[in-house]
Amino acid sequence: MAADDDSAPVRAETYAEFAALVGGLAHEIRNPLSTIRLNMELLAEDFAAEEPDSPTRHRDRRARAKIDLVRQECDRLQKLLGDFLDFARQETLTLEPGNLNTELEQLLDFFAPRAREGGVELVRYLDPALPAVRIDRETFRSAVLNLLLNAVQAMDGGGQLVVRTRPSGLGVLLELIDTGPGMDADTLAKAFQAFYTTKQGGSGLGLPTARKIVEAHGGTIDVETAPGKGTKVTIWLPAPPRLPPQRPT
Ligand SMILES: Nc1ncnc2c1ncn2[C@@H]1O[C@H](COP(=O)(O)OP(=O)(O)OP(=O)(O)O)[C@@H](O)[C@H]1O
Ligand SMILES: [Mg+2]
Repeated sequence: MAADDDSAPVRAETYAEFAALVGGLAHEIRNPLSTIRLNMELLAEDFAAEEPDSPTRHRDRRARAKIDLVRQECDRLQKLLGDFLDFARQETLTLEPGNLNTELEQLLDFFAPRAREGGVELVRYLDPALPAVRIDRETFRSAVLNLLLNAVQAMDGGGQLVVRTRPSGLGVLLELIDTGPGMDADTLAKAFQAFYTTKQGGSGLGLPTARKIVEAHGGTIDVETAPGKGTKVTIWLPAPPRLPPQRPT
């Protein structure tokens, strides 16, 4: 294949070098950004108290509005950088035998207040006969957390989120079914693209990061959705036959 052939596959080392470089850049941006954010906080405190008779009160009010805007943009950039670093990280997973139900119970307990706040009823159908899987607990949890957040964010005004597990073939299935507005075909086609978002302040990295993590576990992730019909995200993870069943802890 010609060296300048655009269709030439990117060498794995080139990709790794590039990912490390971009990750390094994101880290470099992070520190000055926190300094800017912190100083905006201090500035906001300086301008906090409005003195009704002050000759500079109008100017102070305008300054406060600008400070608020810069703070919001800093927050947006901080989220984007954090999400990007999660996405670009070269995963070295530590896979250990585990019980998916146990992980989900803990994660859902942690997530319950967020769901309640969004008016979302969490319903758990966790099949006790689930075979053991090999997972990197922390990384896998972060993938599921992204999906739970998507569901709650989609159900603006409340709804129901069913979290279901069951054995399937040589693995286990995890289904997250929400009663949100669903996605049209165009949104679904783009949903796993990095930086695609329909949300104000979204990074568009939740689904691509979740897919990357699930695939690094040897699994798959699929979405079934239609406008007005809610969304079902299905994760399949392999369950190696030699693993002894993991008792829920
Ligand atoms: N459960 C869902 N119901 C409806 N639409 C969804 C759902 N999950 C994802 N989407 C759509 O897919 C898009 C991409 O989701 P993704 O999680 O990658 O990014 P995001 O949620 O927009 O931003 P963030 O980086 O904060 O997660 C969302 O903006 C939304 O349009
Ligand atoms: Mg998201």
